[in-house]
Amino acid sequence: MATRTRHIGLSLGADICWPICYEALFRKLDLNLDIGGETVNFEVERVAIEPFDLMQPVKYDVVIDRLTHWYHTSREWIKKAILTDDLYVFNNPWSLQAMEKHTSYCAMMRLGFPVPDTWLIPPKSYVESPDLLSTLRKYARLFDLGEIGEKIGYPLFMKPYDGGAWVGVTAIRDGEALKNAYDESGTRLMHLQHGVKPFDAFVRCVGLGPQFRYVNYDPDAPLHDRYRMDRDFLSEADKKTLAQMTIVINAFFGWDFNSCEALRSNGVWRPIDFANACPDSQVTSLHYHFPWLIKSNIRWSAFCAATDRSMHANLNWGNYFEIAGRDLPFEDKLEQYAKLAHDYFQVDDFEAFCEKHLPHLDEVAHEFFGSDTVRDAIRQKVEALYPEHEWDEFTELFWQRIQTWRSESAA
Ligand SMILES: Nc1ncnc2c1ncn2[C@@H]1O[C@H](COP(=O)(O)OP(=O)(O)OP(=O)(O)O)[C@@H](O)[C@H]1O
Ligand SMILES: [Mg+2]
Repeated sequence: MATRTRHIGLSLGADICWPICYEALFRKLDLNLDIGGETVNFEVERVAIEPFDLMQPVKYDVVIDRLTHWYHTSREWIKKAILTDDLYVFNNPWSLQAMEKHTSYCAMMRLGFPVPDTWLIPPKSYVESPDLLSTLRKYARLFDLGEIGEKIGYPLFMKPYDGGAWVGVTAIRDGEALKNAYDESGTRLMHLQHGVKPFDAFVRCVGLGPQFRYVNYDPDAPLHDRYRMDRDFLSEADKKTLAQMTIVINAFFGWDFNSCEALRSNGVWRPIDFANACPDSQVTSLHYHFPWLIKSNIRWSAFCAATDRSMHANLNWGNYFEIAGRDLPFEDKLEQYAKLAHDYFQVDDFEAFCEKHLPHLDEVAHEFFGSDTVRDAIRQKVEALYPEHEWDEFTELFWQRIQTWRSESAA
């Protein structure tokens, strides 16, 4: 039987722990898959940053990218590689570059998702530019910020239209606080969003291909405790809604790896932040959930590489908008959007692939996450993030949480 090697590239920045574990577990699996009469094996390698000829061939079949959102050399190399060599990449670089939080709100509102009421306001101040004054003098209307605040209702959140990492997010209780926050917002373009309060659940649903992890999220805890370790805290119906919302968002924007934050209030899941297409992958945040990430990444990347999954560089928004225009309750529309997303992510093919080719993954992973390789990867990440006197304590903490995952998954 002929042998074909599929090349998986890791396009990395500050990542330490997850690539070590991904590479080591991939090696341990020792995959030689019988696909269409060929033996398919894999080579995983880290992508180097270097000058490139726009027409030079690319050796990779799949790239897992962590740089595109801020490092433009890699982003432009990835775009070239998709266009000239049919590279498959997590995530679609054009969509990542152009679709901010704002776009994701508008699109999902049109699909009927219960995103809280959100306004965009012009910035408080500007960087000088030649046509600025004449443009503003002619067209910028005076507006009453207090009136907009009353319309949205308090509490509300002021946050950057393209935000991330909590930068510039302010919780606002009344008109005076709103005025102060706006005065301090400077040149940033801001949203005002109705605050979902009270809420009785806050979930970060992480999607990787058609795989989902529901994390009970505590935004007020220190970083290492934000991802709670609770399992079975959601009903099957809750899980279904969250998975459907997440898969639809991800298929709509061409994001293989993204997380959707939603709060449940009066029984309704309200998504508030779902343009996170470079989700946290570090063991220092994910700890107990970290093995899920590594396993899911291996499954989805192996599937995409082995089956030559198409990059779907063209998004098909019209199909979703057609459903949005039907006279149906949101739950029914969500079912129909989810069917489109199910096809987009080839869920049936993917499940059959995992069953046939990766039946040993759970067992190999169980052993691997008890190994020194993992302990050392944790240590390296902890040393990069924490002061020296905390290295032992936090290495042990994250290690123990992974051991908890091991004993629970074995049971
Ligand atoms: N509409 C809202 N209702 C209630 N809480 C909110 C709302 N919007 C934001 N928050 C709170 O503010 C936090 C940060 O907001 P948001 O997630 O939108 O910003 P971000 O900068 O994208 O954060 P990150 O990238 O860390 O997820 C949320 O985790 C949540 O605790
Ligand atoms: Mg958030």
